[in-house]
Amino acid sequence: MILDDFRLDGKAAIVTGASRGLGRAMALGLAEASADVAVVARNKELLDVVAAEIAGLGRRALVVPADLTNLDEINAMVQRVKDEFGRIDILINNAGLINRAPAEEYTPEMWDEIMAINIRGAFFCAQAVAKVMIEQGGGKIINTASLLSAIGVPLIAAYTASKGGIGQLTKSLAVEWAKYSINVNAIAPGYFRTDVTEALQKDKERSARIMARVAVKRWGDPDDLKGAAVFLASKASDYVTGHLLFVDGGWMAG
Ligand SMILES: NC(=O)c1ccc[n+]([C@@H]2O[C@H](COP(=O)([O-])OP(=O)(O)OC[C@H]3O[C@@H](n4cnc5c(N)ncnc54)[C@H](OP(=O)(O)O)[C@@H]3O)[C@@H](O)[C@H]2O)c1
Repeated sequence: MILDDFRLDGKAAIVTGASRGLGRAMALGLAEASADVAVVARNKELLDVVAAEIAGLGRRALVVPADLTNLDEINAMVQRVKDEFGRIDILINNAGLINRAPAEEYTPEMWDEIMAINIRGAFFCAQAVAKVMIEQGGGKIINTASLLSAIGVPLIAAYTASKGGIGQLTKSLAVEWAKYSINVNAIAPGYFRTDVTEALQKDKERSARIMARVAVKRWGDPDDLKGAAVFLASKASDYVTGHLLFVDGGWMAG
């Protein structure tokens, strides 16, 4: 039955950037759909809080602190999840950063900081998890893209380049790993209330300009991503791969 296809019973997931914001909400969404979830980020205290929320839903939670700009830490994280859960069915590849500056003033350090996590970290997490999924016979990888995978806005050149890269990486891995029954898709959030958008939320003029284009006339709540995450993590999306699913209150349609 179709609703059963959305259930994640017996599935083991990794969510990166799960200590707060969108990653936390998607981790809870997967747990609500009955997956066991390993939560990954650098801040262990915040991960412990999310893990307790997952345990409160009756699912297994595993806290794996890791800096995903470090390849050794990525590989150790994936090995630990495999050892503890015995398998990895779902990766939500979500950890990311943003920094703002006029493009003509960007320093190499600012550029590298963004690329190291948003695109390099995401690729090597996908690679390490895919090796496990290939042995298992398949899995679901969900990257976090952005409106900036499709359009440009001023002052975030490196972020925009990294999210454009995530869109193309999603397509590239989808066609390459389809033969292993690994679906690779991306969720492209619009404007959501998290730490990343705090400056924008506080800027009344820019916030009003953004909301003018959001068809549903409100900022996204991180919980608004749960449905897309569960869909792309579940059997219900078996014939969907290489897709960027915009969850943006209609921003792209405007
Ligand atoms: N909010 C939006 O409107 C929006 C829109 C489009 C796309 N996105 C994307 O959605 C994702 C999540 O964003 P968010 O808004 O939830 O931001 P957030 O609240 O700042 O969360 C970012 C997460 O990434 C983790 N992280 C950052 N650097 C890391 C590293 N080196 N190693 C491991 N984890 C790291 C952070 O944890 P620690 O600091 O504890 O490591 C945190 O859990 C990002 O990829 C962002 O680009 C957000």
